Amino acid sequence: MENILVVREVTKDLSWVEVLHNVSFEVKTWQIYWFLGPNWAWKTTTMKCIMWLITPESWEINILWDNKLSTKTKSQIGFMPENTYLYKHLTWEEFLRFNWNFFWFQKEVLEKKIEELLKKVWLYDAKDKYLAEYSKWMLQRVWLAQSIINDPKILFLDEPMSWLDPIWRKMVKDLLVELNKSWTTIFFNTHILADVESICDSFSIIHKWSIIVKNKDIKSLDKPLEDFFIEEISKD
Ligand SMILES: Nc1ncnc2c1ncn2[C@@H]1O[C@H](COP(=O)(O)OP(=O)(O)OP(=O)(O)O)[C@@H](O)[C@H]1O
Ligand SMILES: [Mg+2]
Repeated sequence: MENILVVREVTKDLSWVEVLHNVSFEVKTWQIYWFLGPNWAWKTTTMKCIMWLITPESWEINILWDNKLSTKTKSQIGFMPENTYLYKHLTWEEFLRFNWNFFWFQKEVLEKKIEELLKKVWLYDAKDKYLAEYSKWMLQRVWLAQSIINDPKILFLDEPMSWLDPIWRKMVKDLLVELNKSWTTIFFNTHILADVESICDSFSIIHKWSIIVKNKDIKSLDKPLEDFFIEEISKD
């Protein structure tokens, strides 16, 4: 498989302190890829660099064979950020319709798609409620739905399950597997290992500003991921 995402030598400084040092890794088409690291490992910052939300000091980032993140490429990407800031005066159905306007899709598919997304994340009955009334876990579902509105070729998720209970976590996992079967590559940040071990193809670990394990095939591990992770981050 070809590389759908290439991150090469990304370096980021904040207040003259280096917080990312030569971060490099590659994600292949159709993988479910994790970007692992303990708290404060600069995972979110790395994802923000990939999304061009912040500018690194040096970088080469290639998504879908494009190193400029053109509008066309953006239209093929899904993104669920770690912190959600939503328009609270909209209902969630209105929010989906609002997001839909960023893409140039045919109107005919709109109604079907909205209906499908409302149901997919199990919030259909709350579709007329204002987002201001939604709790944290409900908002996380809303964000997940908006991130897949355009049937993305690659989906970026930053801690997509942190507020969810075990039943919903299972549902998110099933949803990701389903998306992956229809050719969506999935890249996500997490430090919750046990939950998602079963759906990972490959991963990297970031620790103390650098990649310490790169593009590791999960099948090549001879021990549980949790043990491997703790060993690796305790090495020095
Ligand atoms: N622009 C900034 N200026 C100062 N501090 C920042 C900035 N951006 C991020 N931080 C802080 O740096 C820390 C690490 O950054 P980041 O959020 O990227 O790590 P993370 O690995 O995603 O952590 P977590 O596991 O908590 O999600 C965070 O505590 C964050 O508050
Ligand atoms: Mg984070």
